[in-house]
Amino acid sequence: METQILQALDPVRDGENIMQAAEVLRGGGLVVFPTETVYGIGADALNPQAVTGIFAAKGRPADNPLIVHVTSPEHIGPLVRDFPPEAESLAKAFWPGPLTIILPKSPAIPDVTSGGLDTVAVRMPSHPVARALIGRSGVPVAAPSANLSGTPSPTSAQHCIFDLSGKVDVILDGGGCDVGMESTVVSLAGKKPSLLRPGAVTLSQLREVLGGVEVDPAVTRRPEEGRPALSPGMKYRHYAPRAKLTLLHGGADEMEKYLKGRRGNGTWLLVFDEDLERFGENAVSYGAEKSPASQARRLFSALRELDDAGAETVYARAPSTSGVGLAVYNRLLRAAGFNEIYL
Ligand code: TXA
Ligand code: MG
Repeated sequence: METQILQALDPVRDGENIMQAAEVLRGGGLVVFPTETVYGIGADALNPQAVTGIFAAKGRPADNPLIVHVTSPEHIGPLVRDFPPEAESLAKAFWPGPLTIILPKSPAIPDVTSGGLDTVAVRMPSHPVARALIGRSGVPVAAPSANLSGTPSPTSAQHCIFDLSGKVDVILDGGGCDVGMESTVVSLAGKKPSLLRPGAVTLSQLREVLGGVEVDPAVTRRPEEGRPALSPGMKYRHYAPRAKLTLLHGGADEMEKYLKGRRGNGTWLLVFDEDLERFGENAVSYGAEKSPASQARRLFSALRELDDAGAETVYARAPSTSGVGLAVYNRLLRAAGFNEIYL
């Protein structure tokens, strides 16, 4: 398939390109588009054949459900069995924005979209190009991150072109993603609200709105064998560069000590801006130590840089886990295949 790459930096100036992409969605095709979190690969969520195409393009396991994107909470009514007051409160506080809510699904959602579950994930993104695209398509848009399954999520059109060129109809180039990390996923389908995936909307922000919110164990731990994962996406190795990555908890001094004799050929470091000078060659930064938001924005791009550099072994300095840091830690832990050391 030939992939058209169209500029979409501005919803008005690039309106024709967005309109063209919306037509592709309406016709059952695949469109990669920017959101404020990461790029998504979208299809008409109510068209099973179109959605099947997403799984094929990404090489995604069929039991991993997709998030359905809309431009207004009113469009969610037909997709869910119930939109409870908790969902109303979350929508009011965080939409449009980087939050996904899991709710019991209505029969309108095809099984392929929900990965066979009886729930559906819904999100209302804030990115103006995403909003224009979804609005003009006139359909709810199922969209996972626009990377090949298992690789780091894409935060630029170049990442998407690298992974999906020839596998989708259109890639809308909207420049870099502001947040850089996928949305926070909270489930309202169980007895109590539960955080399934941390993101830019933090746990304490959720608790301010909902009161109690449980944290699914899979957020910070390896899912137990045999225990069904609440969020199927959490059970796969994820966000992973080709290199073997080890997460090191501790300060730069301790890291320097640990690395004595360990920095051979093909060994790279993933550290903070402040550490770059100290560690010298073969080191990549994923943001400022004191700014989890900068780490979220840069992590996936830094992981891809390590691949481009041919890194075989990577030692990464672990982030703080407070606020948005929990999301950064959650992704790094998966990129490391849960391989972490406390120095
Ligand atoms: O920011 C984002 O959320 C991006 C942009 C494109 O919107 N999308 C995204 O989609 O990250 P994806 O498919 O890469 O991640 C969705 C996560 C997966 O871990 C999936 O298992 C989980 O949400 N999920 C989706 N539907 C679910 C459901 N019904 N129940 C539990 N988990 C669900
Ligand atoms: Mg993904």
